[in-house]
Amino acid sequence: MITLDHVSKIFRSATGTIRAVDDVSLEISAGELCVLIGPSGSGKTTTMRMINRLEVPTSGRVIVNGRDIRLADPVRLRRTIGYVIQQVGLLPHLTVAENVALVPRLLGWPARKRRDRAEEMLHLVGLPPRDFAARYPRELSGGQQQRVAVARALAGDPPIVLMDEPFGALDPLTRKQLQQELRRIHAEVKKTIVFITHDVSEAFLLGDRIALMAEGRVVQYGPPLELLRQPATPFVTEFIGDDRGMLTLRHVRIAELVGPVRTVEAKRGLRIHGSCSILDALHRIAAARSDDDGLEICDDRECVIGYLRYTDLVRRLADVVIAEGEVGGYVDALPAR
Ligand SMILES: Nc1ncnc2c1ncn2[C@@H]1O[C@H](COP(=O)(O)OP(=O)(O)O)[C@@H](O)[C@H]1O
Ligand SMILES: [Mg+2]
Repeated sequence: MITLDHVSKIFRSATGTIRAVDDVSLEISAGELCVLIGPSGSGKTTTMRMINRLEVPTSGRVIVNGRDIRLADPVRLRRTIGYVIQQVGLLPHLTVAENVALVPRLLGWPARKRRDRAEEMLHLVGLPPRDFAARYPRELSGGQQQRVAVARALAGDPPIVLMDEPFGALDPLTRKQLQQELRRIHAEVKKTIVFITHDVSEAFLLGDRIALMAEGRVVQYGPPLELLRQPATPFVTEFIGDDRGMLTLRHVRIAELVGPVRTVEAKRGLRIHGSCSILDALHRIAAARSDDDGLEICDDRECVIGYLRYTDLVRRLADVVIAEGEVGGYVDALPAR
């Protein structure tokens, strides 16, 4: 859906030149949620802005939906790519519904269809139109405004949505809520989403794949578990930092713990799907009867693929968390250039 092919961006100013993006190549598949993460100034925003041509690469190509976007009309291109930024950017003199229907209006949709679409989008982001459609942005909380911004980005039904630290300014609770909402919306509408954050747990919660950037380069690009298990450089481990143990519990599947454990007949097992995360399993155990003596791990067809006694679970858990969760012995250094 989106290909960056050896893309670089150099900014020239009175004080010198800055290589903001340095030879970045990325492929983002249709329907995927790709997270760009990295320290401030690592080139995330510039990389994103080259996808909707708010910035033009100094060298390299950006292909969207099979077309080199240099050949596309930038205004048209931007109407097919939703864009959400931290500074919301709602128009203060327009109502919530009018803000949401902005792109449909630019696309020339008839009034009725625009209104229906705005209502549908407000429902999707959890703002009942009856209560919110006629309000003005100043009458909303920060979290509600950010929901409107998400609704607006989706309203023209663009195949691609770019989100640049959209939840960065929100309090932790509202932020968590919107992260969950975004996951649900992404599963529902199947857009290709590029999402920027500098928050590690947000990246791991949302990303199908994560691109970790530093100094204008992509240090590693892969599924969350790959960054945990096969960090490309010590910087990857360093950047993930103290969240490592928790992320391991969230992203390693319970089925992986069954392997080397002797499979015995289930006595009183708590049945759980092998694709559940270790953390899900722990939640289930905490909520279950206390006389279970292990987990019955099953597959999609409800066949039991293994049995894990609680005593073995603890041992395997200790191995996994200590092997993968610990940060130690890594050098505090950026990748070599
Ligand atoms: N328009 C610009 N002119 C000059 N330098 C810029 C411009 N935009 C970004 N930069 C510089 O490019 C680098 C990358 O910026 P940015 O892409 O915004 O990083 P991030 O989003 O990862 O924080 C920074 O050093 C920044 O100061
Ligand atoms: Mg930025």
